[in-house]
Amino acid sequence: MDARSVEPSLSLHRLFDSDLAPLFWVPERRGRDSTWWGHVPFAQWLTCAARPRVIVELGTYRGVSYAAFCEAVRREKLETQCFAIDTWQGDEQSSFYDDSVYEEFREFHDAHYAAFSTMLRCSFDEALPRFDDGSVDLLHIDGLHSYEAVRHDFESWLPKLSRRGVVLFHDIHVHWPGFGVWQLWRELKKRHPHFEFQHSCGLGLLAVGSAAPQAVAELCAIGDTAEGTVLRDRLTFLAERWTTEAGLSQKLAGLSEVEAAQRAAEKRMVEAEAKAAEATARLQEVYASTSWRLLEPARRLGRSHPGLAQAVRRGAMLVRGRRVPQFHSPVDGLGDAEPGAIEAPRPVERRGPPEESSIVVAEQARALGLQFQVSGRRSVAVGIITYETDDADLRRVVSSAEVAIGRAGLGAEARVLVLDNGAATDEVTAGNKAICRLQSAGNVGFAAGHNRLMEAAFAAGAEIYVAANPDGMLHPDALVALLQMSQASDDRALIEAAQFPEEHPKIYDPVTFDTPWASGACLAIPRAVAKATGGFDETFFMYCEDVDLSWRARAAGFAVKICPRALFLHPVTNRPQTPRTGLMYRQSGVILARKWGASGFERSMLQQLQQAGSAPSDQQPQPVPAEWRRVADFSRLFSFAPARW
Ligand SMILES: C[S@@+](CC[C@H](N)C(=O)[O-])C[C@H]1O[C@@H](n2cnc3c(N)ncnc32)[C@H](O)[C@@H]1O
Repeated sequence: MDARSVEPSLSLHRLFDSDLAPLFWVPERRGRDSTWWGHVPFAQWLTCAARPRVIVELGTYRGVSYAAFCEAVRREKLETQCFAIDTWQGDEQSSFYDDSVYEEFREFHDAHYAAFSTMLRCSFDEALPRFDDGSVDLLHIDGLHSYEAVRHDFESWLPKLSRRGVVLFHDIHVHWPGFGVWQLWRELKKRHPHFEFQHSCGLGLLAVGSAAPQAVAELCAIGDTAEGTVLRDRLTFLAERWTTEAGLSQKLAGLSEVEAAQRAAEKRMVEAEAKAAEATARLQEVYASTSWRLLEPARRLGRSHPGLAQAVRRGAMLVRGRRVPQFHSPVDGLGDAEPGAIEAPRPVERRGPPEESSIVVAEQARALGLQFQVSGRRSVAVGIITYETDDADLRRVVSSAEVAIGRAGLGAEARVLVLDNGAATDEVTAGNKAICRLQSAGNVGFAAGHNRLMEAAFAAGAEIYVAANPDGMLHPDALVALLQMSQASDDRALIEAAQFPEEHPKIYDPVTFDTPWASGACLAIPRAVAKATGGFDETFFMYCEDVDLSWRARAAGFAVKICPRALFLHPVTNRPQTPRTGLMYRQSGVILARKWGASGFERSMLQQLQQAGSAPSDQQPQPVPAEWRRVADFSRLFSFAPARW
């Protein structure tokens, strides 16, 4: 049978109906960061179906949403004029960015849409006089998402809308602190026909004109019906195609960085092997020398009397005029090991008769705050920054935080905050109402990411912010233990949860639990400490920001402690460093050294970076006051503290 002679059935015909084509167009801005990806198919369809004469977008950034409207205009040859309005500087929610964002989009825009589209680089208010009242058919509002800002944008632009006028609002389902589109949306949808999507932070369509295009009117009419639900489900399904790809492309970008770092490391290894061979040859010459053979009895003595050998080494250092490194800490009795020395675990010596042990136990209990019952009214936020985070890991850390919040009896006053530094993960935790999300601003780094979450948490009334790495897991009692210990120090201490199964080896006082610095893997930061220190220094992209924060906190008179009762499963402490991680450590090391006046350490880091073929960081952080330097310890390389083993 000739297939062409058969009339297609109605249902088959629908499958290739050209009306559906815009839902399946492949978007042009793939690979660009945005939380809008999931709405691209709908925007393409809507533009074709509503055929607006003028489209205005408030908030364009990298142009993901704007290009969806423009693609429809270009492909369907619509007689539409489009306007993208943005300062292209960013804002406090999507974070601020540099000119490259504008320049990259400008180039793309001019090559593809210049015939019918105009980019206006100014504030939304400044652009208002350029538009006649009643002239805009489709307005997309996606600027700052606070209630006041979005309401201002809506009200100031409403007179510009025509009788066919339709307004799109992004982020109508984002409920975290500082975001209020959901609130405005709740008010407006009572007054106008509307339709809404929940995926990709939510998109609301509001028909504000008296003569909405037919497709829009029909869409609004089915909003709350079973058909509306089917439509929503199907578009959510389509959305996944692009949100998944957006996530993947971020991962790939990360991978090519890793590959470049790997190539550099391989080059370094070849060079290092050549140097090692040269050193071995030189050593052979020394062993063969007469003086080496003559000094053998002295070396034997040193091996049988290590104390003597150490005294001799120390004496030699003093004679050579080098400072014997000390651990300058408010913690007493932590010792002063040689740089790089590996020491056996060593209890802190406490003078006094044996019965003092019960006093020690009482002191420990006091430091741990065991006498306190955690109040359910404590306001706590657990903040998680994701970046290439495994879905299962993210679910695990979130649910462990929820369990720990429950175990501490913290009710509505506790929340879990999430910020994506990498691919969007909102679909991974979709439906979890306990989570508040901040809009991603791309990979802003560990320090800036946590600062943003902290700011949101404290603005919403949190007393304690607990930073938790996404690849870890809180013990059910971890928050109870952290909160008890925080109360014992009047919320004036940075408190690190103990990581297990591989504990960090840096030293701590077994009675007071003071420690030279606290790791950011799982760290309780009380409001007072965040306020006094300004949080993490964002000059650090990743690594060493926790060391810097701890030292600044100590210099400002706060305590820094580890809480052995608060366990954080984080099986990564001793995992081998990738070349990329190694380089990032050294870059951060340079910044730390510049900030804390450790020129020797800086030189050594710069040298290592140079050997690895990596350009050194050009960040010049504000140096700390000279008197603060006493708390810094650069003599143990990246341990930044004496090690317990
Ligand atoms: C969330 S982003 C827009 C995202 C974009 N629609 C997309 O598809 O990814 C918000 C943008 O609004 C801009 N913005 C915020 N408030 C503004 C204002 N009052 N005037 C001009 N631009 C503003 C920021 O510069 C930022 O680029």
